[in-house]
Amino acid sequence: MVLQQKDHQMLTDRDIVANALTLLLAGEDTTANTLAWTVYLLSRHPEAEQKLIQEIDQHNDGDPLPWPLPSLPWMNAVIKESMRLKPVAPQIYLEPMNDTCIGDVEISKGTPLFLALHAGALDEAYFSDAQSFDPSRWTNREGASMNALFPFGGGARMCPGRSLALTEIKMALHALYSNFKLIPLQDPNSVRERFAFTMAPLNFRATIIRR
Ligand code: HEM
Repeated sequence: MVLQQKDHQMLTDRDIVANALTLLLAGEDTTANTLAWTVYLLSRHPEAEQKLIQEIDQHNDGDPLPWPLPSLPWMNAVIKESMRLKPVAPQIYLEPMNDTCIGDVEISKGTPLFLALHAGALDEAYFSDAQSFDPSRWTNREGASMNALFPFGGGARMCPGRSLALTEIKMALHALYSNFKLIPLQDPNSVRERFAFTMAPLNFRATIIRR
């Protein structure tokens, strides 16, 4: 952006600051908190954590950051299940530019809309035993409806950073569980959801030990 400004003068300083802020706000906390929730949920479900470690070990050739990442179906399922139960961006705020209709609800231009992106993800109609952490629902393709999961939003404004985020999360999980184990330092029930633009695990502390 700075080069573009220097060479073509199409971006103002304000444009650059606004874009840098969007990328930081939209890209950093979301990915970091998804990783934190995933690790927290794994620490509460040792059998799922052990299965992840086994899957990583099967494909581990000693390279700390293998590229391209091997196909790790259990890790993918763990990430999806974490994003379903603990979506870091559970709400979005929209404003239609024209009168419109969503389903059978008429909405006038300019009406502020507050959408709960995570509503379907916790609905028993789409996910059996919806409150429980069960990554196998994604590997068995049972009790899970992909159409009800929107952790990255949808449509034309769907998160443009989703592939980067998923790659970062997979690489971090691979690096962590290849060599280390996480020991939570608190009663799991004391960990709370804290919503401040993104939803983070409040009070989650862990120590990392070599396994
Ligand atoms: C797990 C990580 C992430 C989650 C859960 C997430 C989630 C979301 C959601 C729900 C939206 C709103 C989409 C909509 O309006 O339908 C969004 C927008 C956006 N995200 Fe992400 N995001 C993540 C990571 C990232 C990363 C890594 C970047 C960039 C480096 C990024 C950049 C953006 C930008 C620029 C927008 C605004 C797009 C627009 O309004 O056109 N996000 N994200």
